[in-house]
Amino acid sequence: MDNKLMLMIPGPTPVPEKVLLAMAKHPIGHRSGEFSKVIAELTENLKWLHQTEHDVLMLSATGTGAMEAGIINFLSPGDQVLVGNNGKFGERWGKLAKAFGVVVEEITAEWGKPLDVEEFRSKLEADTDKKIKAVIITHSETSTGVLNDLEGINKAVKAHGVALIIVDAVTSLGACNIPVDEWALDVVASGSQKGYMLPPGLGFVSVGPKAWQAYKTAKIPRFYLDLGKYKKATDENSSPFTPPVNLMYGLQASLQMLKAEGLEGIFKRHQKATQATREAMKALSLPLFAPDNAASPAITAVAPITVEAEKIRSVMKKRFDIALAGGQDHLQGKIFRIGHLGFVCERDILAAIASLEATLMALGDRQVTSGAGVAAAARILIQD
Ligand SMILES: Cc1ncc(COP(=O)(O)O)c(C=O)c1O
Repeated sequence: MDNKLMLMIPGPTPVPEKVLLAMAKHPIGHRSGEFSKVIAELTENLKWLHQTEHDVLMLSATGTGAMEAGIINFLSPGDQVLVGNNGKFGERWGKLAKAFGVVVEEITAEWGKPLDVEEFRSKLEADTDKKIKAVIITHSETSTGVLNDLEGINKAVKAHGVALIIVDAVTSLGACNIPVDEWALDVVASGSQKGYMLPPGLGFVSVGPKAWQAYKTAKIPRFYLDLGKYKKATDENSSPFTPPVNLMYGLQASLQMLKAEGLEGIFKRHQKATQATREAMKALSLPLFAPDNAASPAITAVAPITVEAEKIRSVMKKRFDIALAGGQDHLQGKIFRIGHLGFVCERDILAAIASLEATLMALGDRQVTSGAGVAAAARILIQD
């Protein structure tokens, strides 16, 4: 049957009908009083989602644009930074910073393992001359399904006292707790096609007071992504350039939905989806790629042994119209990834796991015990 695609990838994520309909309008002038009111509401609700009283700025960009803005506004060529790299997106941070002449020292971990907080702590403690200007990490490493210990790494950064913490929260914001002000996170980047339940096209950057201090002396050239322009405009309920008006109508609707659910509800839904998916994989003897104590709330990566990952993805798509993500780079063909980010409910998880069981049967996997995965997931999902 056509037109029943279930997106279980880490982005773009499914978009609620309410949000799709909110976007199906004629655009209005972005300098109009009417649109000013929309920007005011969006700004207030974005601050709520980020748990901050400081700035959250909207960019016509994807997550990588928000990451780039997070580098070029607060650093200068020659600045030393520590970058956490345990996957595709940590690697991207390093490449991005280097492209602007920033001197990158990487703290690495094997793909599938979390970054080691102690390594950050010892590097930062050894930096008595305070040469390290920023610590840059990916919170939820989408390529492997690992959630890095942002709180722990941030504590080490705060003990250093000078370095900024710059975070890619592209697949963790709107999925798990990121109290921006309580943790004093200086720069947090995210993108619309993830926990925001929107199509791609909007990037978000939250900026705290210490980052704005760094902005004053940062020397990397900037123009379109000059966040000072965005702050000035946002403070006047406006935007520096023509924003994607219709996406912002969608954002208005999605933030209203998220607000109605509440932060606790959003985090719990993702936590249960993660746990249910992981327990189901264990019950089906499918090895998990990330450990239980560092599980991303957005994505579960699975490394099957007896059946090929790409065959599983192919049958899931052809027979059940469920799109799963594959592995990236050297993990291509070795893992498949189940997205449970954004507009994903308990029914979706159960449907995906039941279809996965049927897929394993179709592929002749003798290890699969029919119903074991669904039962394991259900045991988690029915808990209050
Ligand atoms: C953790 C993470 N960072 C950054 C990005 C890049 O975002 P975009 O593709 O929107 O530029 C992604 C996209 O999947 C991501 O998952």
